[in-house]
Amino acid sequence: MSYINENFLELQESYLFSTIAKKVANYTQEHPDKKVIKLGIGDVTRPIVPACIQAMHQAVEEMGTLEGFKGYGPEQGYDFLRKAIAQYDYHARGVDIAEDEIFVSDGAKCDTGNIVDIFAQGNVVAITDPVYPVYLDTNVMAGRSGAFNPETGTYEKIVYLPVMAENDFKPELPNQKVDMIYLCFPNNPTGTVLKKEELEKWVKYARENHAVILYDSAYEAFITEEGIPHSIYEVEGAKEVAIEFRSFSKTAGFTGLRCGYVVIPKGVKGYTKQGKEVSYHQLWNRRTCTKFNGASYIVQRAAEAIYSEEGQKQIKENIGYYMENARIIREGLEKAGIPYYGGVNAPYVWLKVPDGKTSWEFFDTLLQEYNVVGTPGSGFGPHGEGYFRLTAFGTKENTIEAMERIKSKGC
Ligand code: MLT
Repeated sequence: MSYINENFLELQESYLFSTIAKKVANYTQEHPDKKVIKLGIGDVTRPIVPACIQAMHQAVEEMGTLEGFKGYGPEQGYDFLRKAIAQYDYHARGVDIAEDEIFVSDGAKCDTGNIVDIFAQGNVVAITDPVYPVYLDTNVMAGRSGAFNPETGTYEKIVYLPVMAENDFKPELPNQKVDMIYLCFPNNPTGTVLKKEELEKWVKYARENHAVILYDSAYEAFITEEGIPHSIYEVEGAKEVAIEFRSFSKTAGFTGLRCGYVVIPKGVKGYTKQGKEVSYHQLWNRRTCTKFNGASYIVQRAAEAIYSEEGQKQIKENIGYYMENARIIREGLEKAGIPYYGGVNAPYVWLKVPDGKTSWEFFDTLLQEYNVVGTPGSGFGPHGEGYFRLTAFGTKENTIEAMERIKSKGC
């Protein structure tokens, strides 16, 4: 007889974005005449930029020649891409990250999910609430969550760090000792950011408590204001306590292409039960070699092209396009008299649900009456209740139309 991993039975319902997709599919099937505008999942709409397309064409041609053909590549990523990442994403910002501290992957969702493999089951995990569901669900699957309490909507062993309007969406340090801390800034779902001095206190906490910060900076390219850290390694001492995740999905439209990377500096250490120090870099490298054969060569060539002069210019145009959508959403909400947050340094706008409705009630109203899809805040955690997320990744025309509908109906 085979036994299942019972941790999976502790998971709540289906994955948030699958639930939404199902609801939308049902609605459109019943109302084929309606034009539904999707501002729910953060999936991009701008095509991949010409610099990347050209790089892929070239890589495809190479693969068809005896000299250029590539079989298995390095599991950690090709040197050309790791070098470009180190240089442009880190050295250019005065951050010293070595090329071999970068692991190229098929996306940040996999990395943020798979990273749990290298941590002991007994670690205490802190997550912000609301949070990108992958951090929580993967720790539930790994058996680190304890039981779910339906009354509070929380797991007994997870330490929740509320982020809400009342604390300006800045998580407070936990009042108990935790071992793994997930932080995502610019934040998904709230679209808010932390300043350097606010991040410093987390690095200090992690250093004092021998904890590890799992820092997701997938949205750093959307920062428009000066003085907001793009990487946690801009904070002194972070290289000993932080693992950073990055993604090309939103930055360069790679949601369908799949490529991202994780940075694990060699100085980030964990401990055996006997108290022996072990580098997480070593463990992740071992895991990667065993479970992954590297991102595709063609895709890595496309990622490299992001860092070319042309590539940078082209992706910045797309990012500007999305941030203009964010501005349109903010302006629309302002006109509709709906309080909102974010959308200045992030492609997400987090709004306060009007009329005392729950997040899911508002979801249904928006879908059925306005034919606009967003993401209910409570899907990201109990403190997301009463909030709602709109993404700036739609087309400009659809974003304008969605906001017109919301304004005109006096939502
Ligand atoms: C989101 O909508 O939160 C993201 O698109 C999900 C993801 O990146 O996996």
